[in-house]
Amino acid sequence: MKLSIVLPTLALALAAATSFATAPAQAAEPIVIKFSHVVAPNTPKGRAADYFKKLAEERSHGRVKVEVYPNSQLYKDREEMEALQIGAVQMLAPSLAKFGPLGVRSFELFDLPYIFPNKETLYRVMDGDIGKKLFTLLDAKGITGLGFWDNGFKQMSANTPLHSLADFKGLKMRIQSSKVLEAQMQALGANPQVMAFSEVYSALQQGVVDGTENPMSNLYTQKMHEVQKHLTLSDHGYLGYAVIVNKKFWGDLPADLRATLDQAMRDTTVFERKIAQVENDEALAKVKAAGTTQVYVLPYKDRVAWQQALLPVHKAFEEKIGRDLIQATYRVAAQVEKGKTTARANKHKAAKPEKK
Ligand code: LMR
Repeated sequence: MKLSIVLPTLALALAAATSFATAPAQAAEPIVIKFSHVVAPNTPKGRAADYFKKLAEERSHGRVKVEVYPNSQLYKDREEMEALQIGAVQMLAPSLAKFGPLGVRSFELFDLPYIFPNKETLYRVMDGDIGKKLFTLLDAKGITGLGFWDNGFKQMSANTPLHSLADFKGLKMRIQSSKVLEAQMQALGANPQVMAFSEVYSALQQGVVDGTENPMSNLYTQKMHEVQKHLTLSDHGYLGYAVIVNKKFWGDLPADLRATLDQAMRDTTVFERKIAQVENDEALAKVKAAGTTQVYVLPYKDRVAWQQALLPVHKAFEEKIGRDLIQATYRVAAQVEKGKTTARANKHKAAKPEKK
């Protein structure tokens, strides 16, 4: 071996040894949380994922690093669930319609058409005993539920008008992987096709499917309005998310850090629910402005007809979802309605002073 080669090598090794000995203690590497999702960053879920990243990194003073991967960049719908279970990613927020293939069909409660008459009922269901019960079902799957995020009510779109029930006959409608959604489309006379979210735009463009359903924020940010001539504002069903983590990963975190992240998630959930409706309203305005899609508001009498056609789906899924969960949801809706009636009566009374 030539001396000229040995000497610089030795010198490098010595230099490295010295600098190692004198270097200040390095800070521990941050714990990485890979947060994968399938929608665009400028949607309620996308913005909330970024907000969580900000809170988590700031409040943990850099002990965690949250890497957000939007738009199915890492994994598509079904793959991301598997990736979470094997620990390839640590956090997801799949829509509630995507838990069936995992073997927890009760989440499809949220897919039942017209089950939530308003957002207040929805939040009470998510944040109360029903939501808690659903999260306990994830335990056996190696998953921990952290919170429920909102997107909004779904609207129907296609290349032909969707006004009366007869308009659905024979249409190929893309759905998420939910048996309830399959039954819903069949009850309307359509032909449901399960498909990953990332494939919907091109499937609509190429005519593989004729139409779909989604809240406005998803429809607009995926540019579906460019390939859908008709949109019916029907609010016939709901789309929300469960934020979930790999159970082992979460359980192994230092307790103080887990508490910090838990609080960051609670605060993110408040933020997310505040922006969800705003984002959807803005998306509707943008779709109208784009002028590519005719927007039709479903009139009350047709809404009643849609409801009559779709409500039997509730009964058909009692066994799969759990009769108790469905009945409990009806009770929450009734309580909310009662509260509203009482509030209205009190307001009326206060505005009309009693005669002496
Ligand atoms: C869909 O697949 O239509 C949606 O669930 C996508 C999402 O996550 O909002």
